[in-house]
Amino acid sequence: MEPVNVADYERLAEQALPQDVFGYYAGGAEDEQTLRDNLAAWTRWHLRPRVLVDVGGVTTSTTVLGQEVALPILLAPVAYQGLAHPDGERGSARAAAAARTIMCLSTFANTAPAELAEAVPGGAHWFQLYWFRDSGVMRELVQQAVEASFGAVVLTVDAAVPARRERDVRTGFRITPDVPVPSVVAALGNPASGPPGELFSLVTPSVTWRRLEELSEFGLPVVLKGIVTAEDARLACEHGAAALVVSNHGGRQLDGGIPTADALTEVVDAVEGRIEVYVDGGIRRGSQVVKALALGARAVLVGRPFLWGLAVDGAAGVERVLTLLQAELAHALALCGCTSPADVTPAHVTRARL
Ligand SMILES: Cc1cc2nc3c(=O)[nH]c(=O)nc-3n(C[C@H](O)[C@H](O)[C@H](O)COP(=O)(O)O)c2cc1C
Repeated sequence: MEPVNVADYERLAEQALPQDVFGYYAGGAEDEQTLRDNLAAWTRWHLRPRVLVDVGGVTTSTTVLGQEVALPILLAPVAYQGLAHPDGERGSARAAAAARTIMCLSTFANTAPAELAEAVPGGAHWFQLYWFRDSGVMRELVQQAVEASFGAVVLTVDAAVPARRERDVRTGFRITPDVPVPSVVAALGNPASGPPGELFSLVTPSVTWRRLEELSEFGLPVVLKGIVTAEDARLACEHGAAALVVSNHGGRQLDGGIPTADALTEVVDAVEGRIEVYVDGGIRRGSQVVKALALGARAVLVGRPFLWGLAVDGAAGVERVLTLLQAELAHALALCGCTSPADVTPAHVTRARL
């Protein structure tokens, strides 16, 4: 049966993938409370549609960091995409380019920044950074992204220490050397194998706000990913971030943390329009993108949704997922009386009265 939404793609991906890989992609930390809460939190906001507006011509296009995108939905950085499909990160990047949006390449990707740029020369790419203990390796990776014309560095700040993912412990999920990770090869000199947490011990737990300025030497805008409080949102503005992503890593790091749909308001209020705010976590429908825009996000990122598309049908699957989400978004915008993302205002959303 032809998949007609993200949930259909998830079911098909579960059939297509080995159980341990599916568990790694789908799972979250510990009791997976935040993983579930991310999904549920979007349902606790309701849209307030306006009617009798001419919505004969709806566009989903907008800009992020000054760059035009055809839809306010970016591909989140997701590690090890080579395990989902042989197309891997190149496939996701091809789909993002076809959809005219941005793809964030993970530090733990199976493709190096230079390889990605070579495979998809016209694509818009951002580089997600984990700050390695060996800052020489970190510098080399960012420098490669700069030379490959990536548009931003996305520093992930919600993963100071490796995750506790019990699904992976139970399935014995391991990274194996047959799908190498260029950043790990650069750090260790060989394609290491082991549970993801072991590879993650290459990342330093000691980076603080003071060290952010070291990233300015690369000349790329710095986006901080993983902010969920007003306090840190203010610090992000004060330390020169160009934008931030309200994110809890898709419920994969701190279990019991606030769902992102609920954190968005306090972050947007604290930022006071100084920098762009994006959000990710649990977004599975175009109507939820409208809620995110109404709550003050400039754009959203999706992780698992495009990963399911990749697992089912490689680059074509990612493209189809993006097409579905874009169609849902255009539909929801029209039914809310909006002809573009710019028309969405805080008045288009209200807290659900349950
Ligand atoms: C399998 C998987 C791997 C991920 N790897 C990374 C990563 O390497 N770096 C990062 O910043 N975030 C990573 N994330 C988090 C995503 O960027 C994003 O925050 C999250 O997936 C959003 O939630 P969603 O999957 O519900 O859309 C990963 C998420 C998943 C599901």
